[in-house]
Amino acid sequence: MRRRPHAGKMANRALPSRFDKVTIATMSETDFARLPDLGSHVFTAPLKRPAGLGEDWIEPAQHSYTADEHAIWDELFARQMEVLPDRAASAFLNGLDRLDLGRGGVPDFARLSEELGALTGWSVVPVPMLIPDHVFFWHLANRRFPAGNFIRTRETFDYIQEPDVFHDVFGHVPMLADPTYADYMQEYGRAGWKAMRYNRLKALGALYWYTVEFGLIQEADGLRAYGAGILSGPTEAVFCLEAESPNRIMLNVDRVMRTDYVIDDLQPTYFVIESFAELFHDTVDRDFDRLYRSLSPGFTYANTAVIDVDDVLHRGSLEYFLRGGRGSGAAPV
Ligand SMILES: [Fe+2]
Repeated sequence: MRRRPHAGKMANRALPSRFDKVTIATMSETDFARLPDLGSHVFTAPLKRPAGLGEDWIEPAQHSYTADEHAIWDELFARQMEVLPDRAASAFLNGLDRLDLGRGGVPDFARLSEELGALTGWSVVPVPMLIPDHVFFWHLANRRFPAGNFIRTRETFDYIQEPDVFHDVFGHVPMLADPTYADYMQEYGRAGWKAMRYNRLKALGALYWYTVEFGLIQEADGLRAYGAGILSGPTEAVFCLEAESPNRIMLNVDRVMRTDYVIDDLQPTYFVIESFAELFHDTVDRDFDRLYRSLSPGFTYANTAVIDVDDVLHRGSLEYFLRGGRGSGAAPV
């Protein structure tokens, strides 16, 4: 559901044996007003920039949606609202409400940006289906959320791997109305640049995956979902909270950054935070330089693993995965 962490897989080519210490030392002063220079030793996926786009990869205009495409948004919206009350995080539901994303049709990005900007200073910009990681991080560092400039068709109504405007705007944007979460996403963008320089994009991708895309939060009334990958589809919103199959484990950043993840099926494991303030402090306030240096290039833990240090809320039966997952037609139990 999210191109950017996947693209990190392509960015796994080894760096020269010693990274450029001068470059890394200057990272903290990186000026994100302009797209920073990556450095020739950092590998980026060889995506071809469509003609007419600048180095920011922003499309000149939002796609002009047909009446049927607007209707697809409305139907997707209505389907999600059948399952999300009492399952989505209160921050998400508040954001949805404040931004009035259910007013009808695909939201107009200019209007949405104005409303979101007034709340947290974020904006939403239209981009092609795939953009390079470093450009994605740069936008986040500037409080711009890049959103897909297309919507799925009726043929792909239930599942698409590429993030469309419904996933990006319905799934991600309401959370950006929460001030703490908005700050987290900006810092994530800054951390992305550092990860690229250390060639640890896979580790940062795992953190993104298990928080921004598939994160759960402990609220007073029980577990709730705040990850966009969960909230933009009907099946996982129920599965992640109520199924016997998946593990539910309290988030530990070091452990999560060493954990593999599934990109095309329901998750075998979900990680739970206590608050967005805790998420912010556990990630932003820590010494990522030290962490990146201690991580191996590959993942240490399988996505089904439960390990000694885990604070386990629910040890999953893993039945769905043992039956073969999506490809086998197994029920998400
Ligand atoms: Fe996403």
